[in-house]
Amino acid sequence: PKRVRVHHLRELKERGEPWPMLTAYDMYTAELFDQAGIPVLLVGDSAANNVFGYDTSLPVTLDELVPLVRAVTRSVRRALVVADLPFGSYQVSVEQAVASAVRLMKEGRAHAVKLEGGRRFAPHVNALTTAGIPVMGHIGFTPQSEHNLGGYRVQGRGDAADTLLDDALSLQAAGAFAVVMEMVPAEAAKRVTHELRIPTVGIGAGPDCDAQVLVWQDMAGLRRGKAPRFVKRYADLAGTLTDAATAFADEVRARQFPGPEHSFH
Ligand code: KIV
Ligand code: NA
Repeated sequence: PKRVRVHHLRELKERGEPWPMLTAYDMYTAELFDQAGIPVLLVGDSAANNVFGYDTSLPVTLDELVPLVRAVTRSVRRALVVADLPFGSYQVSVEQAVASAVRLMKEGRAHAVKLEGGRRFAPHVNALTTAGIPVMGHIGFTPQSEHNLGGYRVQGRGDAADTLLDDALSLQAAGAFAVVMEMVPAEAAKRVTHELRIPTVGIGAGPDCDAQVLVWQDMAGLRRGKAPRFVKRYADLAGTLTDAATAFADEVRARQFPGPEHSFH
């Protein structure tokens, strides 16, 4: 199968065909989503919450993410794999951003990287693309800036819609190949999508973005509890796995497992 490249995503936008993106952090999910035809997989810093058990994305490190990126890139044949630059790995300087992204590309074998932030990170995006590294931007609600943004809240309401557009245009001018918009009003996201040549990827950004992304454990119902408004659960993996574990436990306790067909003689 032909590898997905960043220019294919631009072509989909030109044809008006929306595309899906999911996170993946390991071999099986990467393989399954790749074979299901998901063209772009993100090894997000959301691994912090969804793999490592941290309560925010802030603590996860490059050292923790690199092996996950490597597992995902090893396991896909077609999908474009984007790796998140975690908090603290690019904010210090443009040089730090390039050094960190090089690790994701060289050790993780990522095909592209993603970083959070608008106009102020245009120099970083420019340096990365100059170094040959495709960059996906991320604006609107940016979880790494949670403390500065005053918690999980919708961004880009009212006058802030102009800032959102300005940030998106700056990232595009700096060479970004796509930009994620998280938790922004659908109207603002529609305007940005219309104004940009590069694809927009929405999460909680309404139906008019060029692409849609979800964290896979949210999408598949592995994570329990109240989900954000923008999540739709397409399966109940938490229920399925709980049932499987319970059935296994019951059969062991009842000496029903293993049966003769599972035993050697
Ligand atoms: O880390 C992540 O999962 C993300 C997506 C939600 C865009 O950044
Ligand atoms: Na992220």
